[in-house]
Amino acid sequence: MVYQPAEDSYLLTDILKKELPGLINKNPDLRFLEIGAGSGIHLSTAEKTGVKKENIFSSDIDKNSVNHCNLLGYNCIKSDLFENITGKYNLIIFNPPYLPEESKEPIDSKMATTGGKRGDEIILKFLEQAKNHLENNGKIFLLASSSTPKINFENFGYKSKEIGCERLFYEQLCVWELVI
Ligand SMILES: C[S@@+](CC[C@H](N)C(=O)[O-])C[C@H]1O[C@@H](n2cnc3c(N)ncnc32)[C@H](O)[C@@H]1O
Repeated sequence: MVYQPAEDSYLLTDILKKELPGLINKNPDLRFLEIGAGSGIHLSTAEKTGVKKENIFSSDIDKNSVNHCNLLGYNCIKSDLFENITGKYNLIIFNPPYLPEESKEPIDSKMATTGGKRGDEIILKFLEQAKNHLENNGKIFLLASSSTPKINFENFGYKSKEIGCERLFYEQLCVWELVI
């Protein structure tokens, strides 16, 4: 199932619109990687904001999402997190599945929304792997929710700061900037 953009997607894309111009100003050849590209909303924001199309890379574990992003003209490969990703990037973004497991959730939407029994399992694996793919002074923008257990980024060797939050009536969403 291709995840249709929702509040989490819009928050992350707004942050990209705000942050990317400054990053591209410093590095016009910025290499951008999105894990879990879904509908491709952030790929198109990255392109419109000035990231060179040949420097936009992406992946998804869901083959329909990969096909969808390829049809939009983006480089997107099927990969479980960084399994098939090579190289290093200046900016890595991820709006992960972060909800705790819910027995009633249909299997096809589960892949896009459920992060594991507690909700943070995929995020924790991402944090372990992502640092191996960051260029010097590279950054990660990671979306997290108050529905997920609190994550200690420092335990994984990252310095962290919140760069944008939004309160929905049942949860708070925040985008974290992580650097090594
Ligand atoms: C919440 S959706 C976000 C989609 C899109 N980036 C957005 O912001 O609208 C999470 C995406 O991550 C993908 N995903 C889930 N587990 C993954 C994994 N282990 N590796 C790569 N992608 C994964 C899902 O298929 C889905 O497209």
